[in-house]
Amino acid sequence: MKILITGATSGIGFETGIQLIKKGHFVYFTTHRKNQIKTLVEKLKELGFQKESAVFQLDITKEFDRKLIYDLDIDCLFCNASIGYGGSILDLPISRLEENFKVNVFSNIELIQTYCAHLFLTQKKGKVVVMSSIAGMVPIPFLGSYCATKATLISLTTCLKKEVKLLTNDIQVKLIEPGIFNTGFNEVMIENKKKSIYFQELEPSLTNLEESFFQLFGHNQVNSIVKKIVQAIESNSSKFIYRAPFFQGLFAKGYQLFH
Ligand SMILES: NC(=O)c1ccc[n+]([C@@H]2O[C@H](COP(=O)([O-])OP(=O)(O)OC[C@H]3O[C@@H](n4cnc5c(N)ncnc54)[C@H](OP(=O)(O)O)[C@@H]3O)[C@@H](O)[C@H]2O)c1
Repeated sequence: MKILITGATSGIGFETGIQLIKKGHFVYFTTHRKNQIKTLVEKLKELGFQKESAVFQLDITKEFDRKLIYDLDIDCLFCNASIGYGGSILDLPISRLEENFKVNVFSNIELIQTYCAHLFLTQKKGKVVVMSSIAGMVPIPFLGSYCATKATLISLTTCLKKEVKLLTNDIQVKLIEPGIFNTGFNEVMIENKKKSIYFQELEPSLTNLEESFFQLFGHNQVNSIVKKIVQAIESNSSKFIYRAPFFQGLFAKGYQLFH
């Protein structure tokens, strides 16, 4: 298969690309910023994977970049890119909430629309794999902005799957819901919060609590979720949601049942 991954410079996206190549696929590693291209090309060269990969800039918020998809023959689009803003809902500048939704929701949906339009026009088969999060099922205080985008993605991807099924069996839609992994992504959300007006007194202990939470529950290795993503990309089954680590997925399902 030929798979395009967004936000593939690091973390889960990069590791998924590597595992896909090891399984015999061709991977388009796309990067947010132009200056990441060289490093990524070198990383792939070191691993001996130049022939099985291509690297280019795809900032999902840019229409020009999204339209590059029209020139490619892609069997699977893996929408992995996202950002997260920390901070309480009371303190959160609306511009940040808008930016979070612009990247995680609106741009991903526009990319999916572009890809699916291409599939319909060329009458090709394809697959859309969307990266949500267990944080979309279990809202975490002080990470509300990020959680809301991921909850919205769960909702929109579920509708997308049902709607596409009415039109064709040639486009499959899958949803990924990872638990907590120590890729650095969550730490950025703790660090990028603005100074709180309402929670000043709680602030130092709140940050310590958040850091301890991620250290305690975060998995250092991304293997478990990468394995699930590879399954989702390769599988032709009707299975829709893929979660890992197992116990965090179980907790999230339990949480939904009892809330
Ligand atoms: N780590 C976790 O605990 C966890 C849990 C559940 C879900 N997830 C999800 O897994 C995905 C990967 O996260 P990760 O943990 O592997 O962290 P990561 O390495 O930081 O991955 C996020 C990627 O998205 C890219 N990105 C941001 N804005 C973009 C844009 N406008 N266009 C294209 N790419 C953009 C980032 O590029 P820059 O670095 O250049 O901005 C980065 O490469 C995310 O969707 C995240 O929400 C992560």
